[in-house]
Amino acid sequence: MNNKKIKVKNICCLGAGYVGGPTMVVLAEKCPQINVFVTDIDKKKIERWNSKQFENLPVYEPGLSDLVKKCRNKNLFFTTDIQNAIQNSDIVFISVNTPTKTQGHGAGYASDLKWVESSARIVGQFAKGHTIIVEKSTVPVRTAELIQKIINHYKTDELLTDINNKKTFSVLSSPEFLAEGTAIKDLEFPDRVLIGGDDNDALDTLSLIYQEWIPIKKIFRTNLWSSELSKLTANAFLAQRISSINAISSLCEPSGADIKEVSKAIGADSRIGGKFLQAGPGFGGSCFQKDLLNLIYLCRFYNLDSAADYWEQVIKLNEWQKKRISKIIIEAFFGTLSSKKIVLLGYSFKPNTNDIRESPAISIALQLIENGATVFIHDPKVSESQIRNSIEIEETYQKTKNSINDNWSYEKDLEKIVVDADAIVIVTEWEEYFNLNWRGINKLMRRPSWLFDTRGIVNAKELEETKINFWQVGKGFLKKE
Ligand code: UDX
Ligand code: UDX
Repeated sequence: MNNKKIKVKNICCLGAGYVGGPTMVVLAEKCPQINVFVTDIDKKKIERWNSKQFENLPVYEPGLSDLVKKCRNKNLFFTTDIQNAIQNSDIVFISVNTPTKTQGHGAGYASDLKWVESSARIVGQFAKGHTIIVEKSTVPVRTAELIQKIINHYKTDELLTDINNKKTFSVLSSPEFLAEGTAIKDLEFPDRVLIGGDDNDALDTLSLIYQEWIPIKKIFRTNLWSSELSKLTANAFLAQRISSINAISSLCEPSGADIKEVSKAIGADSRIGGKFLQAGPGFGGSCFQKDLLNLIYLCRFYNLDSAADYWEQVIKLNEWQKKRISKIIIEAFFGTLSSKKIVLLGYSFKPNTNDIRESPAISIALQLIENGATVFIHDPKVSESQIRNSIEIEETYQKTKNSINDNWSYEKDLEKIVVDADAIVIVTEWEEYFNLNWRGINKLMRRPSWLFDTRGIVNAKELEETKINFWQVGKGFLKKE
């Protein structure tokens, strides 16, 4: 607990998504003396944040609904009244989406900053008195400059004495490092938080808020650009570790090495460390690919082509891993999947979240469908409509749709979904898939039956008394009749 008094009374956040929502919920819980207004332009999303049924919140995160229950309408408010929220706030967090541009200059690599820009304008327009703007969205380096340039048009002379009409701003960067599925824990006990900026008063103000629950030694002050670049770099390094271990998994399979043993052996070296060494079907999620593309764009912008190519390889390897796994499945059925029922267990990009953005399950499903399979999908949290949106907008799906009608289906019941399946593919390591009764499932599947474990969660011993053929990432074919 810090001794200095927090002067901030009201905070608001623009963007009530996966980042803005949980971040503000935790802030409200840790700082009951501050009113927190979470805004979004999406009216339906705000309605869901205000829903009486807590299972309807737009974001699923372990522990989130309990905190919303505790704070909502006390010091935590979800609202579409953006103007009012900004007017009353001492600090405005910007947590709107920054997707990769799909057209125009930098398409496919650069971030589209139109939402950040419109957020800066709206803050400039409605803010009163002195307002601290905090970039929470992951942004390319020097975005704070863009925000500063925009709001400079709205600020009044600092010497103006008429407080009612006075408008001044400070811009800080404080990127979020939460991982989905563990967002609440990550926010409550972060490894570190970054605050980048050059206005010491603003830095102190934000630091005091974080100090309510985070030890001061974990609050790092940097310049604006270091803070922005640190976020991109952290995600690039994490993604690179996954591509590295996935590259090694492909080498383990034909050579007889075991990826788990290799991961353990290298992870025991304290310089390498044991985390993020889990081979899988490739990384997904909204951040890794987008941030890598951003970094590549920046390197190219500064004519650092070799650095750009280096990071681009991390993405290429990730794409390759997804295709490599689909190919193994297709080849196990001698190149044709038509009239094969293939069950995908898991569709979210990782467990404990309903988020499917960039999930490897999407491309694996599409590649199987493209090769004639009928794909049956199970996921404990992802809804049928989310799956529909992700599959049916894809060109691959549209092409195959004319020839085969119902080539995917959703099933909530794990016992039903495996009936007559030719293959089961574990794509996400949800807890319910760890201890499946393989002897029971064996009786329900069609022969020859296959299990492809892309997450390495099934113990080969459990399949010994079954007729199920078994392939596992980083180990290869453990059972093949
Ligand atoms: C997003 C970015 O993808 C990420 O890079 C950044 O670090 C944080 O913001 P996330 O919260 O996961 O991450 O995105 P999303 O769940 O899409 O939420 C963004 C929200 O902002 C959406 O609900 C959207 O409606 C809202 N939004 C967008 C606004 O409220 N105002 C706008 O002008 C634009
Ligand atoms: C990531 C960063 O971890 C977080 O700090 C940042 O703020 C946002 O991006 P997130 O995308 O939510 O978080 O999940 P993360 O746990 O990093 O996993 C990303 C992907 O990598 C998932 O698809 C996951 O399955 C995969 N992964 C992760 C592996 O394949 N192996 C691993 O060892 C770890």
